[in-house]
Amino acid sequence: MKVREHWGSRLGFVLAAVGSAVGLGNIWKFPFITGMYGGAAFVLFYLISILLIGLPVMLIEFSIGRKTQLNPVGAFQKLAPSSPYFLIGAMGVLCGFIILSYYSVVAGWTLTYMYKAVAFGFKDFSSPEIAGEAFTAYSSSPIWPVLSHAVFMFLCIFVVSKGVKVGIERWNRILMPTLFVIILLLIVRGLTLEGADAGLKFLFVPDFSKLTANAMLVAMGHAFFTLSLGMGAMLTYGSYLSEKEDLVKSSLWIIVADTGVALLAGIAIFTAVFAMGFEPAGGPGLVFHVLPAIFSMMPGGNIMGFLFFALLSIAALTSGMSLLEVVTAYFIDQKGWSRRKASIAFGFLIFLVGVPSALSFGALKEIIIFKMNLFDFFDYLSFKYMLPLGGFFMVLFTIFRWKPKSLLEELKRGGPGLKISVGLATVLLLISAVFVGVTFVAGVLGVG
Ligand code: PFF
Repeated sequence: MKVREHWGSRLGFVLAAVGSAVGLGNIWKFPFITGMYGGAAFVLFYLISILLIGLPVMLIEFSIGRKTQLNPVGAFQKLAPSSPYFLIGAMGVLCGFIILSYYSVVAGWTLTYMYKAVAFGFKDFSSPEIAGEAFTAYSSSPIWPVLSHAVFMFLCIFVVSKGVKVGIERWNRILMPTLFVIILLLIVRGLTLEGADAGLKFLFVPDFSKLTANAMLVAMGHAFFTLSLGMGAMLTYGSYLSEKEDLVKSSLWIIVADTGVALLAGIAIFTAVFAMGFEPAGGPGLVFHVLPAIFSMMPGGNIMGFLFFALLSIAALTSGMSLLEVVTAYFIDQKGWSRRKASIAFGFLIFLVGVPSALSFGALKEIIIFKMNLFDFFDYLSFKYMLPLGGFFMVLFTIFRWKPKSLLEELKRGGPGLKISVGLATVLLLISAVFVGVTFVAGVLGVG
């Protein structure tokens, strides 16, 4: 048998996991869904979800991954042989496939805008209407979105095919510190704009009348999405860990970094949106409509704009590689494929599956499933349904099959672990399961 690859260092692992968590979810999606679902009350429910389910599910994924040293399907098979639990892992691999197929489309948009910033600056986007028209023309073209989607998938394949240490870890070590520097620069710019306080109010002063059950389900689904949980990405990254890692401490760091970046990105974007007098509910196009117009008006806007889209591209790449790694690891472990072959073959297949999403704003926009275009359909299917269900079943698996005692034991290897009794751990896990279950059912039935 081949020896399993491992992370080269503790910092390398944490940076890679933060790289997976911090992505388009934080900088593109969080602001636009916050705008669509009503602002601060939505943010509050999202933060509650992070606390109640983010930490337990992350601990479960890392523990199962490290314990089994396997991909999501193999991991559940090893811990619960001859049972249907492996389906949790199988749904995860499928979900990684689906998410990456449309995620790469948005990542391609960000790469294009980064290029546009360098080549032309933002002077042509003098109002959100003009910027919006330019974005519509670009995103509905039959060629450019597909090409940029191809470039992004190529980058993911390039990194993942090199391996865990030399590919994923090395690139995260370079890209993640760059990302933090850029976001700090953008925040300073946002906060020093006149009228920035309206943006802060929108983010932090809740109006609960806007919080419907559907909005709660979106907030909870987003908590899973933003932390890369519920589909085995963190499980896969955990499977490259050795016994030395303190899983509790690392998880806390990852959660704080991810939530911090989402809130900081929210501040940077909403201060600018409100200061310039624009509408926050811009949908998926928010950062492509409103922000280019803002950059065109702002002193230093060309540089800020370039930095912003570079930030998005970096965040997308470090997450995209973790999505591809889930699928790749499955084919390496379960089917005996080489890393090179698995990453190239499935990277290419994911590219093909993503082409209809890339065209769903133009040539294929007439194709509507459940009132959504293909892009939105894949997005909603994965983050509103598959991730919460995956997380829910992982918690149930831990309570009823693997047992909370085994989880606590695994957490103790490499650190002080969680100093709580098995009884308390069981109660906390039950609370998470009930929270996910109730929010899910209420959201699906559209209560409230
Ligand atoms: N966490 C990523 C983001 O917020 O953009 C998206 C993501 C990556 C989701 C990896 C799931 C995953 F497995």
